[in-house]
Amino acid sequence: MKVGIVGTGMVGSAAGYALALRGGASRIVLVDRNAALASAQAEDIAHAVPFAHACAVEAGGYDALHGAAVVILACGVAQKPGESRLSLLTRNRDVFAEVIGQVLAVAPDAILLVASNPVDVMTQIARDLSGLPAERVIGSGTILDTARFRAMLGAHLGVAAQSVHGYVLGEHGDSEVLAWSATRVGSEPVSSFAAQVSAPITEDVRARIDQGVRRAAYRIIEGKGATWYGIGAGLARICQAIRDDQRAVLSVSIVTPEVDGVGPVALSLPRVVGREGVVATLMPELAPDERAGLRASAEILKASAEGL
Ligand code: 2OP
Repeated sequence: MKVGIVGTGMVGSAAGYALALRGGASRIVLVDRNAALASAQAEDIAHAVPFAHACAVEAGGYDALHGAAVVILACGVAQKPGESRLSLLTRNRDVFAEVIGQVLAVAPDAILLVASNPVDVMTQIARDLSGLPAERVIGSGTILDTARFRAMLGAHLGVAAQSVHGYVLGEHGDSEVLAWSATRVGSEPVSSFAAQVSAPITEDVRARIDQGVRRAAYRIIEGKGATWYGIGAGLARICQAIRDDQRAVLSVSIVTPEVDGVGPVALSLPRVVGREGVVATLMPELAPDERAGLRASAEILKASAEGL
């Protein structure tokens, strides 16, 4: 499978690197308006390939995207310390307006995988600009927040993050909702598992994990200016689900007709991802406060999109 990446800053290049290490593509094409940057990133990533899976890594112009099954959009500006994701909106909308037509001119059958922030509204913009069906314009959404939730909860419980089955829903951003009530560890509801390993989820623990997940990007950006490894791995994970038609359940963002009466709006829910993109969407059973939080998140995102 050929995967194109438009925008080869930290996120785009980390996605390329993760794809090379995980074996998520047989050909990776990097495109950037700074052609020298794209070439340097491609050469650097290609030097990791002998330690990983066979794949070709190259840089090129938009024409090099011909035949790509997935094109990752990681172009545009990123947050500065203290800035929210939503504050990037108008700047990145203009970048997408310039890029998407050029991508579709050479790769009309590609699934678009949106990484640029604010990722949910950018997903809605990409859907509108491309005219593609909603299930083929996928935002990375809360795949990263879900990973952060699983990592922090797993550390508290002393269990592998991979055995934590819980999701973060709604906005990839300040209004996101940790779906505690629908979270299981192995086959057990999280509270039951926590009691059995003597690591109860007290109010303090819950608040610490909730804030830890919600504020993760702000902390990391304070410390190193941007985030890239987690999202790079998440993007590679989505590409693998598409390439192998895995039908994996991942929390990703697509334009959704309505959530509790609010819509259409792009936000994250657990969704089944395969060769054709999103093939099904799940609505978890939620506690009343979580459900209200998801509705509020949908309203915030819808208002942001309408404010453009
Ligand atoms: C993140 O959550 C900044 O959206 C980016 O790491």
